[in-house]
Amino acid sequence: MPVLNVTDRDGTSSLLTAAPGTTLMAALRAEGMVEAICGGTCSCATCHVHIAAAWWEAVGPPTLEETTMLEFSLERRETSRLACQVLLGPEHDGLALSIAPAEG
Ligand code: FES
Repeated sequence: MPVLNVTDRDGTSSLLTAAPGTTLMAALRAEGMVEAICGGTCSCATCHVHIAAAWWEAVGPPTLEETTMLEFSLERRETSRLACQVLLGPEHDGLALSIAPAEG
């Protein structure tokens, strides 16, 4: 089971255990760390996260649809992803990320 190192919007870090095959968004929403208003359909960006640079290659770049959503974000960084579009696997054990600041 991948263990995630997550820094929340208050700057507090915690370790979360996620089931392989679930999305990063599902793991974060279960802990109340993201709203995920659209339920994972890549249309709200309330699951925006910043992947730690060291983990960027393992997570990979956003899809075209995701990039379009992220272009509207003032909090977009080079390692931004929408967590609902990241499928977790054993290769993500130790993944470090931060929840992007809320917008609006
Ligand atoms: S949950 Fe809405 S874009 Fe990810």
